[in-house]
Amino acid sequence: MTTYKIPVIPGDGIGPDIVTEGMKVIDSAGEKFGFDVEWIEYPHGADHFLETGELISEDTLKELSQYSAIYLGSIGDPRIEPGVLEKGILLAARFYFDQYINLRPIKLLNGVWSPIKDKTPDDIDFVVVRENTEDMYIGIGGRSTKGASSKILEVNRNLYSAKFNLDIETDSEEIAYQIGMISKEGTRRVMEYAFELAQNRSKNLASVDKANVLSDIYGFWREEFESMSSKYPEVKTDFNYVDAITMWFVKNPEWFDVVVTPNMFGDIITDLGAMIQGGLGLAPGGNINPEGTSMFEPIHGSAPKYKGQNKVNPIATIWAGAMMIEQLGEQEASDNIVKAIERNISEGKVRTYDMGGTAGTSDVGDEIAKLVKE
Ligand code: IPM
Ligand code: MN
Repeated sequence: MTTYKIPVIPGDGIGPDIVTEGMKVIDSAGEKFGFDVEWIEYPHGADHFLETGELISEDTLKELSQYSAIYLGSIGDPRIEPGVLEKGILLAARFYFDQYINLRPIKLLNGVWSPIKDKTPDDIDFVVVRENTEDMYIGIGGRSTKGASSKILEVNRNLYSAKFNLDIETDSEEIAYQIGMISKEGTRRVMEYAFELAQNRSKNLASVDKANVLSDIYGFWREEFESMSSKYPEVKTDFNYVDAITMWFVKNPEWFDVVVTPNMFGDIITDLGAMIQGGLGLAPGGNINPEGTSMFEPIHGSAPKYKGQNKVNPIATIWAGAMMIEQLGEQEASDNIVKAIERNISEGKVRTYDMGGTAGTSDVGDEIAKLVKE
C-alpha cells in the first residue's frame, strides 16, 4: 500500500476546523482506494508567531521542500497587523517553493444555488490559472518624503534576480510606490501550463490584462500570450481587459474554459469566480509547482469570528484536498471525493449555514467521508 507523507498547516481562525474535515475525507478515500496518509502537523500561524516570534523559518521551508504536497487551512488573525502573516507565511511559501501556478476551478456543482439566474452547471465550468509569483506581489516598493533620496530594491529568485537602483526626487509632501514586475521566464511558464491545460479541455483560452493602461507590464504579458498562441494553433484564444472580464464572468460564464491571468487580477477575479460557483465556502485552490512542492488550500480566508465554532463550510478545503491527491496521482480517489461533495450537496440533508442548513463543519465532513466509501 502506498503511504503519502503530507505536511499540514491548519493555520489560523477556522483553519483547524476545516482542515480536520479535509483530512478525515482523504483518510476515508484512502481506505477505499488503497492508500494511507501520514499527516505531519506544523504549528505555523498567529499563535505560533505570538509565542515564538517566528513566521516560518528557512529551515522549516527547506524541510517542507522534501514533500510533494502541503495541505493548508487558512492564515490571518486580527491580533496581528494585516499582511504580516499573509506575507510572512503564505506568500513566503508560494515564493520559496516557486509555486508559479495558482489553479482555481470555477465550477458550479449540481445542487448548488448560484446567484446568477438561469445558469446551470453546464454554463459555469472553467479554470483560472493565476500566475502566483510575480506582478504587484513581488513585494517591493517604498515611500519618500519631499526632497531627494535613493533606494535599492531587489528580487532574488531561483529563476532570476532583478535589482532596481532608484534615485527619487519629489516635491510632493510624500509619495508611495509599489513596483510590479513580470519576467519572460515567469510569464512563459504559466502560459505554457495554461495552453496545455486548454489543449486537454475545450481548447479555449482567455487571457486577462490591462494593456490599454498599464501597457509596459501587461503589454508585455499580451505579447507573450500572442507569441505562444502560434505554438498551439488548435487552442482558440482571446484577450480580455480585467474590468471587462468581471462583467463577462457574470453575464456569460459559459464562454470560459481556461483563463490565464497575472497575479493581482487573478486574486480579484477568483473571488468573483467563487461567488458565481456558489460562494467562498465552495472554492478550492492549488498553489502548484509541477516539479516541486505544491500547496493546497481553500481560497477563502481565516474567518476569525467563526474560529472553533464548528460552523463554517468545509467543502472548499475538502475539494482542495481532492485537488491535492489528484496531484499525487490518485485521480480516481480525487474524482470520488468531488462526486461525494456533489452528492452531499444535492441530497441537501447535511449542510452548513451558508447553504441554508443547520449542520456543523464536522457533520458535513462526516457525511462526505461516508459518501466517499459508498
Ligand atoms: C488569496 C489571498 C492571498 C492573495 C492573500 C491572503 C495574501 O487573498 O489566496 O487569494 O492575495 O493571494
Ligand atoms: Mn484572494
